[in-house]
Amino acid sequence: MLRYKRYDRFYDRFQVPGYDLTAVEQASRRQLLRAFWALLALAAVVVLALVIYSNCRYPLDRTTNYASDEEHFKYGSIGSDNQLRGLPYELFMVLPEVFSDLLPAGAPHDYTAFGFIQEPGHELPIGFSKRRHVIDFAGFNCAFCHTGSVREAPGAPPRIIPGMPANTVDLWKFFKFLMDAAADRRFTPEVLIPHMQQRHKLNGFEETLYKVEIIAQVRSALLDQKQRVARIFRDNPPWGPGRVDTFGPYKAIQHNFDLERLPAAEVIGTADLPSLWNQGPRNGMRLHWDGNNDSVRERNFSASFGAGATPSTVDIGALDRVQGWIWTLASPRYPFAVDAAAAARGRAHYMQHCYACHGTQDFGREFAEHGFKVGGDLRLGMVEPRASLLPRNRTDPYRLDSFTWELSVHQATLLADTPEQLKRFRKTDGYATMPLDGIWARAPYLHNGSVPTLTDLLQPAARRPKTFYRKDDVYDQVRGGFVSDAQAIGADRDRYFLYDTALPGNGNVGHEYGVDELDDTQKRELVEFLKTM
Ligand code: HEC
Ligand code: HEC
Repeated sequence: MLRYKRYDRFYDRFQVPGYDLTAVEQASRRQLLRAFWALLALAAVVVLALVIYSNCRYPLDRTTNYASDEEHFKYGSIGSDNQLRGLPYELFMVLPEVFSDLLPAGAPHDYTAFGFIQEPGHELPIGFSKRRHVIDFAGFNCAFCHTGSVREAPGAPPRIIPGMPANTVDLWKFFKFLMDAAADRRFTPEVLIPHMQQRHKLNGFEETLYKVEIIAQVRSALLDQKQRVARIFRDNPPWGPGRVDTFGPYKAIQHNFDLERLPAAEVIGTADLPSLWNQGPRNGMRLHWDGNNDSVRERNFSASFGAGATPSTVDIGALDRVQGWIWTLASPRYPFAVDAAAAARGRAHYMQHCYACHGTQDFGREFAEHGFKVGGDLRLGMVEPRASLLPRNRTDPYRLDSFTWELSVHQATLLADTPEQLKRFRKTDGYATMPLDGIWARAPYLHNGSVPTLTDLLQPAARRPKTFYRKDDVYDQVRGGFVSDAQAIGADRDRYFLYDTALPGNGNVGHEYGVDELDDTQKRELVEFLKTM
């Protein structure tokens, strides 16, 4: 029998030369060896069972699955909380405390310092997710940029509106904080681990990982990003709350562009954060501010990469769940009083001056009924070519110029060879006309957020505010937008962001539709109607 033969050969190695084992000795040794093998097999089975059990109970890659779509949107993982781009959770949680001197002056020592919204019962603010991949990671999701708040008066509780532009969130300061912390000499295991241990007891395994690997790795990843986007943070005007440069950092981080080599006009692309409700009706419209893509699904994937997911880590199921939810998410109703009679008169002004480009809540289905011809007068969800506009209607060009033909080509390399490949990005020659659903909550206005209120947008550019404050979520019910002038904000103004329309990318010119044709009363009526959209 083969098996016994092998044992015998094994024995032979321990044979004393010149001494033959007796038959009894041989039998007892065989027995011993058999017992040994049996024990080893048993141990292997036990270990295997333990591994399977612990992996089911505590999987190496796991994240919370929220029962409600809204919670999933606010806190669920889309795959940016990964070992490539995510921030190790325990480390992330102590940064504001350790580097409190790098936070905005007078701000609390947590992430609300950057305007993120913290809800009770959650460790992370809205817009952050958590995933375990051997250790816990934090990452960003869609709510990071697409959930905002509205207050009736200072001190009143905020209404949190998922899908609304993140009007209070200062991403410039947040990213700068992370990069400056990484460049700081305190970013070491010796300083950070005691803080982490104090907040949450790390086990020996985690502590060792953080000590020998993670902290150094995060530091070098952040320093690499800092160097890639250096030109933006050195030369560009800060974005302030509610804005981000959509494609600038993306070019450098996702596509390896060397920003230092690009012409100045392609490096500033500051954009106001848009709303995410009613995406279904928007599918097929040319959207993003410059209308560079007409597929909601592609815009979502592209956004997830902007948020830190990568083609290999993006959680397609989680993203599809977000997409399903924002597909039919209704725009928020204006929560304050509306003068219904004035709004009814305002509707007539709207139909005359605005409808052809912006449609109404029915997203253009009514166009035919109103005698508009598709491709002729119907321009909702299309790009308005700059060259064909009167100069007084042309808005600031920076965001348009920052998305280049070259970038559209690079976009198509993302998820290449999969059904999700991003191949619908196009270079366009103007800004897109979009539905104005929930427009009251989308202030400040235009692609760069350069006009604080609806009332101001109906003024000629020369009479719109040249500087104003951003960050407030208190609603100005008269002008239709957030409180933004120095007087209303008062002594507190240091805590706000002063928006200067004279800086590159911040221009507030253009879009003077209806400005000369409507008188002040009619403009008030139109604003009243816009609140109901
Ligand atoms: C870092 C901030 C940020 C994050 C995170 C983010 N977005 Fe956006 N999103 C933007 C900006 C800025 C725009 C406007 C882009 C432009 O310049 O045209 C935008 C535009 C969009 C649009 C087009 C809206 C329109 O009407 O034109 C969709 C759809 C969208 N985002 C979906 C998502 C989804 C889904 C996620 C999560 C996977 C997400 N976004 C995450 C910043 C963000
Ligand atoms: C010829 C087409 C056209 C007409 C007419 C037009 N708009 Fe626009 N509108 C646009 C375009 C294009 C943009 C985007 C411009 C940009 O962001 O730079 C825009 C942007 C806006 C925005 C900003 C949206 C946001 O989310 O910030 C508002 C508000 C708006 N329009 C209201 C109106 C009103 C009110 C009227 C009528 C008085 C009107 N528009 C007439 C084309 C038009």
